[in-house]
Amino acid sequence: MDLSRALAPRSRLGRADRVGPGGGLSGMSLDVVRTAYAAGSAEYIALFGRVDQVAEVDRDFILAWALGLQGPVLDVGCGPGQWTHLLSAAGVDAEGVDPVPEFVDSARASYPSDRYRVGLAEDLGVDDAALAGVLAWYSLIHTEPEAIDVPLAEFSRCVRPGGGLALGFFTGARLEPFEHAVATAYFWPIDLLAARVEAAGFTVSRTSTRTEPGTRGHCALLAIRR
Ligand SMILES: C[S@@+](CC[C@H](N)C(=O)[O-])C[C@H]1O[C@@H](n2cnc3c(N)ncnc32)[C@H](O)[C@@H]1O
Repeated sequence: MDLSRALAPRSRLGRADRVGPGGGLSGMSLDVVRTAYAAGSAEYIALFGRVDQVAEVDRDFILAWALGLQGPVLDVGCGPGQWTHLLSAAGVDAEGVDPVPEFVDSARASYPSDRYRVGLAEDLGVDDAALAGVLAWYSLIHTEPEAIDVPLAEFSRCVRPGGGLALGFFTGARLEPFEHAVATAYFWPIDLLAARVEAAGFTVSRTSTRTEPGTRGHCALLAIRR
């Protein structure tokens, strides 16, 4: 797998196989994503596992957002744990969760003073309103659009009123899939995803986009739990 070229073999699964009756990532789809990230975890960690390997503008954006919150922040889909570590090192009460045990093991080894566990966006394993914030940085990119309300509802359940949500995602003019290096992912028009975030119980407070030559459109979205 060559993550740096962001080219991927097409999933052989059809849509009906990928969407579970209860929404979210179906068991089969989650298995596809989890297996693909597990197989590519070493490469992903080598490319993106430290905060000095990610865009400075994203570091500043995420840090400024998290430092404006008061209370625990869950880094959902934390991957190698670089964002959890950035936040923890800055004094934020942060924890990382990811469904891929290889990422969680690596994060614990790289950042032993931080907290990481295996977990899912669709089931965060925390009490209602327990969190000051959820960071989901490119963690919902593989979630089927018809299933996106499931993790968003879970974020809404777990974030207290006045708390924050920060999403990073690929944006485009149309809601459509593309072959990401790891597994099928989706471009979201900002308005469409913002509407789903609002419907889940948040008020979108800011969106910020960036497109660099040769890269996909990036969007960072901030929202406040009503
Ligand atoms: C593109 S990577 C982003 C990782 C990290 N947030 C970063 O910015 O480098 C997507 C991550 O989302 C995780 N992921 C995929 N589906 C998920 C789900 N349903 N719940 C939580 N995490 C998920 C993957 O395991 C992977 O670590």
